[in-house]
Amino acid sequence: MTYQNFSLSQLQEIDAAHHLHPFTDHKDLRAAGTRIITRADGPFVYDSEGNQILDGMAGLWCVNVGYGRNELAEAAYAQMKELPYYNSFFRCSTPTPVLLAKRLAEIAPSNMNQVFYGSSGSEANDTALRLVRHYWVLEGKPQKNIVISRNWAYHGSTITGASLGGMGGMHAQLNGAVPNIRHVMPPYAFELKLPGESDHDFGLRAAKAVEDAIVEAGPENVAAFIGEPVMGAGGVKIAPESYWPQIQKICRKYDVLLMLDEVITGYGRTGEWFAAQSMGIEADTITTAKALTSGYQPLSALLVGDRIAATLVEKGGEFYHGYTYSGHPVACAVALANLDIIEKEGLIERVRDDTGPYLRKALAEKVGSHPIVGEVRSIGLMGAIEIVKDKETRARFEGEGRGGVAVRDHAIANGMMLRAVGDTMIMSPPLIWTRETIDMACERIVKALDLAERDLRS
Ligand SMILES: Cc1ncc(COP(=O)(O)O)c(C=O)c1O
Repeated sequence: MTYQNFSLSQLQEIDAAHHLHPFTDHKDLRAAGTRIITRADGPFVYDSEGNQILDGMAGLWCVNVGYGRNELAEAAYAQMKELPYYNSFFRCSTPTPVLLAKRLAEIAPSNMNQVFYGSSGSEANDTALRLVRHYWVLEGKPQKNIVISRNWAYHGSTITGASLGGMGGMHAQLNGAVPNIRHVMPPYAFELKLPGESDHDFGLRAAKAVEDAIVEAGPENVAAFIGEPVMGAGGVKIAPESYWPQIQKICRKYDVLLMLDEVITGYGRTGEWFAAQSMGIEADTITTAKALTSGYQPLSALLVGDRIAATLVEKGGEFYHGYTYSGHPVACAVALANLDIIEKEGLIERVRDDTGPYLRKALAEKVGSHPIVGEVRSIGLMGAIEIVKDKETRARFEGEGRGGVAVRDHAIANGMMLRAVGDTMIMSPPLIWTRETIDMACERIVKALDLAERDLRS
């Protein structure tokens, strides 16, 4: 049975009858009808109507090498024929997760030499929390179990992920989160910087909120701080330069572990393999997924720092944790081929030296001056555009998120896939984008902004 035998409306009907989607108001979706994406190539996706859309989101922050890569399909096919599956439990392993672990240790920050696999970012964060709490138990400090996180953080959608994250709507639906997780203000200068406050001072103030939370809880009770180097799903919130070095100092001062969630920023997005390297910070765990396989297979890798690994190995006995698909041989084969592409094509250097700086300049020059844009910002190949009614006062359009939705809908209708987080437009395109692709994206974005402004002001 192939989908080509079904019309768009048949697929939409079946979708509405049987398919519950992630992060979706199903009544709305069923009224509007699903957009069905049927194929993709390079930087473009195509829907069932044949519309070509420039994918400004790399799928969901993951297709870093772009679509249509034969090498990845071939790596999966060859591995499936040779050994489609075997587990990594009970003293067994298969070759590809072993080789991938070595490869990850080579590209990761120097204190990261061990890896624990899962299939998603959410699973990897679950592993991270279990590991960090277990670490302190093994170190004889079981009371050290509080984790400090931030409002607007996104750490996944399992109960652990949602509890670690700082999304109010998600917490409300949990009706009982994982205990001992506290949230503080995020380093979101656009909305939280005080009049006259410099970015530098704002970054230090946001870091101080973490310190205050540690002191309030009692450092002897705090296991870790968790953060995305750049808050992605919360709206590409980029911390001022003063923030992360200060967070590192605070964690060291109080002996609090530093957990970085690089599910979005890992594998080249910020112009280094990992954002930890861009920011010069040393973490105890780094959560990675998504671009590890460029989304061609589901795979996550929790990178575990030497401090935790040494305790786990030497004092830990059996760690009662793992997934059927931990170290899945096909996913790991695809990851190895994907890392080869990133390396061979110099995609990280391209982002760092060429397309990253070019995107920043292009957004500033072509998009930043638009009357409904309050700010543009970017780091590497991830960016944000703040939609406002009034450029001077930064007041938003009435109806929270209305500006964002208007721009998003016009963008998609004009061949540009962008996402709206409230009134913030976000982008995170494949790393294969060139200067020409960036120019094309900016043109389409400006057109969407013009059309949205017309609607929003009428
Ligand atoms: C920073 C971060 N952590 C964790 C996750 C969860 O990953 P997954 O959806 O693969 O469970 C995401 C997903 O977007 C993410 O952006």
